[in-house]
Amino acid sequence: MTDAETIGYLWTHRTQDHPWLSDEELLIDRAEGVWVWNQQGRKLLDGFAGLAVVNVGHGRREIAEAIAEQTVRLAYYPTTRQFSNRPAAELAARLAALAPGDLTYSMFAVSGSEANERSMQIARHYWLARGKADKHKVISLQGGYHGATAGTFAVCGLPHMTQAYAHLQTPGFAKVAAPHPFRDRGTATEEELVRRRAAELREAIVREGPETVSAVILEPILSSGGFIIPPLGWLRAVRAICDELDVLMIADEVITGFGRTGRWFACEHEAVVPDLMSVAKGITSGYVPLSASIARRHLADAFPAGATQENVHPNTYAAHPVACAAALANLRIMEQDRLVENAGAMGARLLRGLQAAVGKRAIVGEVRGRGLMVCVDFVEPDGSGRPLDAARVAELDRKAWDRGAIVYARGTVLRLAPPLCITAEEVDTLVAIVADSVDALERDLAG
Ligand SMILES: Cc1ncc(COP(=O)(O)O)c(C=O)c1O
Repeated sequence: MTDAETIGYLWTHRTQDHPWLSDEELLIDRAEGVWVWNQQGRKLLDGFAGLAVVNVGHGRREIAEAIAEQTVRLAYYPTTRQFSNRPAAELAARLAALAPGDLTYSMFAVSGSEANERSMQIARHYWLARGKADKHKVISLQGGYHGATAGTFAVCGLPHMTQAYAHLQTPGFAKVAAPHPFRDRGTATEEELVRRRAAELREAIVREGPETVSAVILEPILSSGGFIIPPLGWLRAVRAICDELDVLMIADEVITGFGRTGRWFACEHEAVVPDLMSVAKGITSGYVPLSASIARRHLADAFPAGATQENVHPNTYAAHPVACAAALANLRIMEQDRLVENAGAMGARLLRGLQAAVGKRAIVGEVRGRGLMVCVDFVEPDGSGRPLDAARVAELDRKAWDRGAIVYARGTVLRLAPPLCITAEEVDTLVAIVADSVDALERDLAG
């Protein structure tokens, strides 16, 4: 069979995202650092690190070797039924040291969706253990994305993704707006906007009845919602409301975790410690799938030591030894190469570069970013500030591809989240490609 024929068997290819390219041109064959090559040998700068996953960059032999060694030694054994394995235990201890505050206990899973499922399930079991059986609702943010399972769709704030499953969704899982300065600051200051949105969150919990609310789940930066970056102060306000109303705070750091924003975890920008933190993606840089829900000590303390009755049910591949070995090797690279610091420095360079190159263009509403999560948000060129038509924004995927980079243009934003090992020269190349693409789009719109 030809490549075109075999690709046809992939369910995902029932949807086309790059309809101007053939499926074979999008067959990615190999990768190194921030670069990927397609089957036909074309070299492209990976401006989105796959799906904001490959934090240490592609082709790291140290991780491959750790995977090979662990596979030969012990490829699989469960961590259910009180069994454990050394990479899993070492990784849990490593995460306890890295994560903010007293986030101490890791429950591992495979995907980001499952990490959020586990976080919501741990929260629920915590309340049951505390004798507060009514607490079950999970409040989330409009524009928030937490995964593609039935449970995480119930807290998804992107209606076009969840409509088909509406009848599976739980009433009372209210969704509130995040502070999005670019779109809704108006004449208010950022502090006033945070106060307004925090008051709305508080009202939503009070309306539902705090005695029925288990948790608030939120991304520190809303990624799929369009790189919405709430002002600093927002997470602190959410923390205060959760404390006041006796509701748990779940931070979804699936994208923001492991250095992406220039700190190990995005909550650290505000010195906030959530009760539960969901992580995935950068934990292994995608070399093997792995995720975790990390819980604070007081949650674990609600369960008696030596209990024989299970609380949250893990899955078969929880704490898979090979995935945990990959994570340990990945974290060693992050530390040795000082990739968190590099994300801060290169993120600032990318932001400054793009602001200088396209910030004043008529179709650019805002260039914003934190660490290596940077985006350009587009508006109609007529000065009205109205969002630019998504179909026109999507043309930037093609323009960037033609100029040698993979970017992610969706909705009104062009999003960038390259590997954290990116160099200054590579940042400048990415800026030049994006700037040239934006110029071309502006010309097309004018013509
Ligand atoms: C913030 C956030 N949470 C959860 C998920 C779901 O992770 P996964 O696709 O690994 O299930 C994603 C995926 O992009 C995400 O961006």
